[in-house]
Amino acid sequence: MRLDKYVKHVLCVSRSEAIDLIKNKQILVNDSTKLKDYDVNDLDIVTFNGKRLEYKEFYYYMLNKPAGYICSTTSHDGTPVTSLIKERNDLFPVGRLDKDTEGLIILTNDGGMAHKLTSPNHDIEKKYYVESKNNIRKEDIDSFLGGVDIRVDDSIYKCKPAKLEIIDDHKSCVYIKEGKFHQVKEMYKAIDNMVLYLKRTQIGEIVLDDKLDLGQYRELNEGEIAYLKSVK
Ligand code: URA
Repeated sequence: MRLDKYVKHVLCVSRSEAIDLIKNKQILVNDSTKLKDYDVNDLDIVTFNGKRLEYKEFYYYMLNKPAGYICSTTSHDGTPVTSLIKERNDLFPVGRLDKDTEGLIILTNDGGMAHKLTSPNHDIEKKYYVESKNNIRKEDIDSFLGGVDIRVDDSIYKCKPAKLEIIDDHKSCVYIKEGKFHQVKEMYKAIDNMVLYLKRTQIGEIVLDDKLDLGQYRELNEGEIAYLKSVK
């Protein structure tokens, strides 16, 4: 691959910015300057200001979403979550969290993967931590297991069975395999309760890294990416 194309993709900059970095000797290949049309091979060590670059076709991140950020890429009702990732501007969120919901969101430039993971054919379980207004009752466990009725687009939808774990009177975790609009909030309404705080902590085998404060992110590791690729 041509050096300017390589730099453009890895650093997520424009082609002219990539060319400038090469000209300004901020990009070195095996410690030497190269022309923009140099053909980078697998053994080359490419550095940017002394830091080694690694070429990857696709990038996958986990972000601990703070409240106030939106996952939609078309709405203008808030700041997009994608703006929190400083290194790249070619990412989009996989699925959605409400503006006031916190927690795990995956961002990628891999359109095929995003499509696969959000398709309703994949019943990947997602775990949410909930703080609710009213007491959680033991019978709510059975209600969720039986599938509660919620309102979706002005009609009634029967949810798939969901597991409910009670932490204390007002704290619980729910595991759902679907992603209807405001699903968790609607499910708690269906058991005469109300969600006051909502945080997603897990998507399938990907667990929100507890070292990430709100607004922080990291690239997924090899095991996490392998899991996402293994989802059929
Ligand atoms: N369910 C909700 O109600 N909101 C979210 O953000 C995610 C799941």
